[in-house]
Amino acid sequence: MDSARSIFTARNLMVLSLAINVSFILRLGYQTFDIKREQLIGGDGARREALSTQRAHLSVSTTSSSSPTTFPGEDRHRVINLDHGDPTMYERFWQQVGDKATVVIPGWQSISYFSDIGNLCWFLEPEFAKQLLRLHKIVGNAVTEDRHIVVGTGSTQLFQAVLYALARPGVEEPISVVSAAPYYSSYPAITESLKSGLYKWEGDALSFSKEGQFIELVTSPNNPDGYVRDSVVNKSGGVLVHDFAYYWPQYTPITSPADYDIMLFTLSKTTGHAGMRIGWALVKDREIAKRMVKYIELNSIGVSKDSQLRAAKVFKVVSDSCESSRDTTESLFEFAYHLMVERWQNLRAAVKRSGMFSLPEFSPGLCKFTGRFFEPQPAFAWLKCEEPIEDCESFLRSNKILTRSGTHFGVGPQYVRISLLDRDDNIDLFVERLSNIRKDNLYQHMGE
Ligand SMILES: Cc1ncc(COP(=O)(O)O)c(C=O)c1O
Repeated sequence: MDSARSIFTARNLMVLSLAINVSFILRLGYQTFDIKREQLIGGDGARREALSTQRAHLSVSTTSSSSPTTFPGEDRHRVINLDHGDPTMYERFWQQVGDKATVVIPGWQSISYFSDIGNLCWFLEPEFAKQLLRLHKIVGNAVTEDRHIVVGTGSTQLFQAVLYALARPGVEEPISVVSAAPYYSSYPAITESLKSGLYKWEGDALSFSKEGQFIELVTSPNNPDGYVRDSVVNKSGGVLVHDFAYYWPQYTPITSPADYDIMLFTLSKTTGHAGMRIGWALVKDREIAKRMVKYIELNSIGVSKDSQLRAAKVFKVVSDSCESSRDTTESLFEFAYHLMVERWQNLRAAVKRSGMFSLPEFSPGLCKFTGRFFEPQPAFAWLKCEEPIEDCESFLRSNKILTRSGTHFGVGPQYVRISLLDRDDNIDLFVERLSNIRKDNLYQHMGE
């Protein structure tokens, strides 16, 4: 009897302790969540951004269409984070592709630092080079003949490699770095991050008048406003760097193969694989390419071979699908093109209905890749808030829409950049929320 009681008691204690632990963990979870929500409202910028991203992730996972944990009316309170250009809209395409894009890398593979010791870019995987050349040829968006390929850990690393390669140590003045406003917000941040004596951010290329050597960054189509661009500085002593992150047929008509001395591309906006961290540069001048390679050698001793092999496979799937079926959803570019058409149509309709915002207008062009005549449909919406809204980013934040203020892009706070590359549910909710903000209910939306 005693032993039965002691077993009973021990079991009871175990159950009790388990229950206490579970309830403690749950409570801890809720508390953490509440604290994060408080910080989201009142904390400093960077932390608020990180937390809101976290919260956005949570929201996505709890509001997917079939989730039993979705509560009615929850969307009303959901924070929509469209600050970063995180290309999660591509997930659906790659889920559909399935195993065709799967790569298996055995344990013994990718051991060595070296990929191709005979190549100027000795860490470039030959299969990756082969597949990216094939894709450029199919799409017709860049001249690849007589170019050196330099692979980078994202185009972000390549940008830094370019700065290193073009700067001349030993000269008195740092080389000026400029780009026409509105410019990609990372350019000033990266250029100034090390407070280098080799190069210096000098801001808007349109008002640049300083003497001496300079680098002009030409982003086309442009991030944030989506316009196709040319260089604007009208004087000698400059080197142009063309950032073609968005020169792909889902975003803009491919009118001719780009043919410049230094061209940067990124996997993140081509196929959506931002997390693989792969970018590549097509560089005409051997010495510049060599110095870029040197920088990457110093910075990270090359670029992940695993990522390059995976990128090669992804490119192969894209190219194969382009060659076999250009006009079906089997093609990445068709999938993304149609999604962008739908998103821009819905957004423009919402902006019209609201009357409180405006968007850039684009002229249509003939895409030589698809044979279609269409207007650019950029990855970002460059939204302007109309009066009396002065600070567009704060206004939208008070409506639980996180965006990036025009001030980060060298212009005023009446503009914001909004990512249109997010998952469907976030974009749909954002468009719906925007369309419900109108002049007659504006003050209701201002004070939340
Ligand atoms: C114009 C432009 N260049 C470069 C990058 C960076 O690309 P990556 O993810 O390859 O570093 C981005 C990313 O948003 C971009 O918009």
